[in-house]
Amino acid sequence: MHVTSFLSLFALQACIGWAINIQVDLIKRSVEQNATLYAYGGTYSAWSIAFGRDDGLLYITENPTSHPANLIPVTWDLAAITDECWIANATFANGTRAGSMFIESQVGNAVGVFNFTRVADFNGTVTGFGLFASQLVYNNNTKLQAQFWAKPTSVVDTYALMWNYDGVVEDGSFPVVVKAAETNYS
Ligand SMILES: *[C@@H]1O[C@H](CO)[C@@H](O)[C@H](O)[C@H]1NC(C)=O
Ligand SMILES: *[C@@H]1O[C@H](CO)[C@@H](O)[C@H](O)[C@H]1NC(C)=O
Ligand SMILES: *[C@@H]1O[C@H](CO)[C@@H](O)[C@H](O)[C@H]1NC(C)=O
Ligand SMILES: *[C@@H]1O[C@H](CO)[C@@H](O)[C@H](O)[C@H]1NC(C)=O
Ligand SMILES: *[C@@H]1O[C@H](CO)[C@@H](O)[C@H](O)[C@H]1NC(C)=O
Ligand SMILES: *[C@@H]1O[C@H](CO)[C@@H](O)[C@H](O)[C@H]1NC(C)=O
Repeated sequence: MHVTSFLSLFALQACIGWAINIQVDLIKRSVEQNATLYAYGGTYSAWSIAFGRDDGLLYITENPTSHPANLIPVTWDLAAITDECWIANATFANGTRAGSMFIESQVGNAVGVFNFTRVADFNGTVTGFGLFASQLVYNNNTKLQAQFWAKPTSVVDTYALMWNYDGVVEDGSFPVVVKAAETNYS
């Protein structure tokens, strides 16, 4: 079975790399700060996306502080698709930066959070994730794509967030829409 969730909207300027100069950073603020990401799909409603302390990968769960899976919540600074450079940055509750969103091709295209040093080691890219309205999409050479999928893990009610290039269903996985919402700190 093939399911495609492919968006092709309009041409976007390619990301010019991370060497954004300070002046640009000061005038260009991310569209969402300290946002929480939620995944919508399957039989549950909106489950949050949490950071896996064991592997740096992202997980979809009802309980983002799940101990069996060693998860903790992160908040996000996200660019809009009208911005030039789309780097989605995650921060821990204590204010420490966790890193940037990244598709890790070496782990079956799991979506994770890595700092720049580690991403360079993986020979990957962290550019490309931005918000189209409230939905998180990937800018692939000017084409907007939303290929996020949830894949079951060994922990009940905890799914790995994957990037599914071809939409092929395996191991009970299913497509999810990833959206940003204001973080409720209560
Ligand atoms: C985001 O959170 C940080 C740390 O808690 C805080 O300093 C900052 O003001 C917050 N930004 C917004 C826009 O709420
Ligand atoms: C993410 O961090 C990088 C490096 O500090 C910065 O260039 C980029 O603008 C940040 N992205 C957002 C959406 O704030
Ligand atoms: C903040 O929290 C993260 C995740 O628990 C941890 O790895 C990091 O060491 C903490 N930073 C500080 C300064 O406590
Ligand atoms: C990035 O992460 C690696 C592995 O966790 C760590 O050794 C390195 O110091 C980190 N680099 C930065 C700039 O945070
Ligand atoms: C990094 O990726 C480029 C382009 O795909 C490839 O040519 C190069 O060999 C890769 N380098 C490493 C160290 O994997
Ligand atoms: C980007 O598009 C190319 C060509 O269509 C494709 O091969 C590649 O897998 C896509 N990358 C992602 C991250 O979806």
